[in-house]
Amino acid sequence: MSFDYKLKLKDAAQLVVVSKGKPYKIGKDMSEVEIIENGTLIVDNNGNIADLGNASEMEEKYKSFTFEKVIDCKNRVVLPGFVDAHTHPVFSGDRVHEFAMKLAGATYLDVHKAGGGIQFTISHTRQSSEQELLELLKPRLDRMVKSGTTLIEAKSGYGLEKETEMKMLKVLHTAAKEHSVEIVSTYLGGHAVPKGLTAAEATDDIVNVQLPELKRLRDLGEISPSNIDVFLEKGFYEYDDTKRILEEGQKLGLEINFHGDELSFMRSGELAGELKARAISHLEKVSEEGMKAMAQVPTFGVLLPTTAYILRLECPPARRMIELGVPVALGSDFNPNAHCLSMPFVMNLACVLMKMNMNEALVAATINSAASINRSSTHGSLEVGKCADFVILNAPKWEHIIYQMCDPPISLVIKKGNVAFE
Ligand code: NIG
Ligand code: FE
Repeated sequence: MSFDYKLKLKDAAQLVVVSKGKPYKIGKDMSEVEIIENGTLIVDNNGNIADLGNASEMEEKYKSFTFEKVIDCKNRVVLPGFVDAHTHPVFSGDRVHEFAMKLAGATYLDVHKAGGGIQFTISHTRQSSEQELLELLKPRLDRMVKSGTTLIEAKSGYGLEKETEMKMLKVLHTAAKEHSVEIVSTYLGGHAVPKGLTAAEATDDIVNVQLPELKRLRDLGEISPSNIDVFLEKGFYEYDDTKRILEEGQKLGLEINFHGDELSFMRSGELAGELKARAISHLEKVSEEGMKAMAQVPTFGVLLPTTAYILRLECPPARRMIELGVPVALGSDFNPNAHCLSMPFVMNLACVLMKMNMNEALVAATINSAASINRSSTHGSLEVGKCADFVILNAPKWEHIIYQMCDPPISLVIKKGNVAFE
């Protein structure tokens, strides 16, 4: 039997549209969240939003049509699926012991210098097969969905050599086909300098060996990276090497989306201005000039409050970024250091630790995070034509998604019009 429409979300206390007709929000506009009180939303048979509006008007307008599924949303709220702008979800090996070290006072660099951190995960990930990594990844993606995430940016970066970096990108390519979470993948061969090489030698390897292989596999359809990333940091990749890697990636059509100004000030914003980068993540140590350069491009500031929280770092200057017109997005930074898969918790941290208001946090976790990975024409708000990705919350006001930090009452998550979590 065929139906006129795939799904109707009926009589929601609030349809949280977030944003209308804009690719992203900046400045004071980040404090505006569009809401339809007592609304109904219709999904077409391709899994896109067909219409939305006042419940009684929609009832009248669609009274003669058939729906494959109708969900009664009375006393519930419909939000767009969350977009996690920064994750490292492909890895093997357990780093729970490092949490104890950090609680005892070790810094991120202390752990790294002791052979832990990224290096530990690299040695395990290199030894794992593609299949093993995929099996480890899927339950992590399941947990993201449970927390309302329907689209993620996901990085390689635990190989640092051709074979493992490509293996990670293949795992992401396969997962994107097999799992309900949508994945935009990022090549991060420059996550750390591999043991035995100088940063200059490692940069040569990325430019002359890894990127040509990335192009070859992408042309064969075996991987699908959209972005290039580097960890611009003292003792990792410094300004000139980072710039060289990012420019080579840009020549291959990858968008620049890198880690910068996390532990030390590295002139990240300035580099983003020079290269017209799409996004920089972290930014705990960004300068005033750097933020101004970012606002000019504009380059998204992808803020990751879990990192500052876990490492007890000073938070990035979110308020100043918003004041200067930098488009701010949020990510979980899910990785073995910051083991967080939940965007509601990230939004809560952004409000409490970085002094964002709840509207700003929601904008940063939806339309702006989608825009930071160039997906805001299809994701990040409840607008006609966009993907039918929703979080249905068992609460009368949407703010409960942030207020109830660790286990908000999510009753359903919908991906492309299908129930992904119930
Ligand atoms: O974004 N800062 C660099 N990269 C990751 C951490 C990776 C790791 O510790 O495994 C981050 O926090
Ligand atoms: Fe990261």
